[in-house]
Amino acid sequence: MAIDLSTRYLGLDLKNPLVVSASPLSSDVSRLRMLAEAGAAAIVLPSLFEEQIRHEAASVERLAEAGSDSFAESLSYFPSSAEAVTGPRRYLDLVANARAKVDVPIIASLNGSSVAGWVDYAGLMEAAGASAIELNIYRIASASDATGPHVEAETVALAQSVKAQVKIPVAVKLHPHFSAFGDVARQLDAAGVDGLVLFNKLFQPDIDLSKLKWVNEVDLSSSADIRLGLLWLSQLSGKLKKASLAANTGVDTVDEVLKYLMAGADVVMMASALLRHGPGYLQTLLLGLEDWLDARGFKRVSEIRGLLTATHPDSERNERKDYIETLTQYRGPYARSA
Ligand SMILES: Cc1cc2nc3c(=O)[nH]c(=O)nc-3n(C[C@H](O)[C@H](O)[C@H](O)COP(=O)(O)O)c2cc1C
Repeated sequence: MAIDLSTRYLGLDLKNPLVVSASPLSSDVSRLRMLAEAGAAAIVLPSLFEEQIRHEAASVERLAEAGSDSFAESLSYFPSSAEAVTGPRRYLDLVANARAKVDVPIIASLNGSSVAGWVDYAGLMEAAGASAIELNIYRIASASDATGPHVEAETVALAQSVKAQVKIPVAVKLHPHFSAFGDVARQLDAAGVDGLVLFNKLFQPDIDLSKLKWVNEVDLSSSADIRLGLLWLSQLSGKLKKASLAANTGVDTVDEVLKYLMAGADVVMMASALLRHGPGYLQTLLLGLEDWLDARGFKRVSEIRGLLTATHPDSERNERKDYIETLTQYRGPYARSA
């Protein structure tokens, strides 16, 4: 019997819970079609960055002021490779092309950290045909005067300013490094955002010991990276007024998809697994999901959504007890009880 995998995310009806998260995989229309054919229920495009928008605005201004000679000079302020892939105008073309040629909802992604005029781009993304906008808030608050309340207030204000630009749904993608993440999630929900994406991955520089230099490298995720998402999904699921929940980070096999759904995710997003195995891997995950549900007698994916939300061991009821038990019960060759 066919299993009903349908779900709702950001008010959109999706055929299944697998959504492609932002990465270079979704930066051209032919691959977007491959992802859709392999079963993606929706696709998030790579982010358009605040800096790219500011850069283009500055370039146009310079061009108008001083003639075309200064245009090349102004382009040098922004990495040319990034400009080539997703400059603002090309980005809007990608949205429009994807809308015309790909048969699943296309979510445009806007990345930034400050509230300013660049968020007007949300309206242009909507006009180009985006089904929704994902606001990717990537900010390391390392300035000495950046206080927690200030960062939170700016995060909410940024989400509100994007919401004010568009009628389509807006999701907010966040990293988890807030002192009280649950409160930030509730503030965003109260501010009217349509969904939360838990979590963005921080790409932190490492040290190359041979060169004594900092290096920026992309590390793809592994299944060990899902635990924080499981925790916060289970704490927030069923408790927000409006916002739906997307799990993101660490999907490697269908097991992570199942676990995220049971912790309360409406959809499960992934990038690393698809960058590793290719777009066709979506089909493997979908078949695995159907087989697992069928083998256990479930007829709809909705039957497992949030199945284990209430019993997460870190919920407030149990947090101290389970923490202490987990640590004190550790056994290994150098940690046996005497
Ligand atoms: C090469 C690469 C590029 C990415 N580019 C973006 C991006 O433009 N915008 C964004 O919001 N996330 C971006 N991400 C983050 C992914 O969308 C995703 O949130 C993160 O990798 C965690 O999911 P995963 O564990 O399935 O990879 C990128 C990830 C990778 C690996």
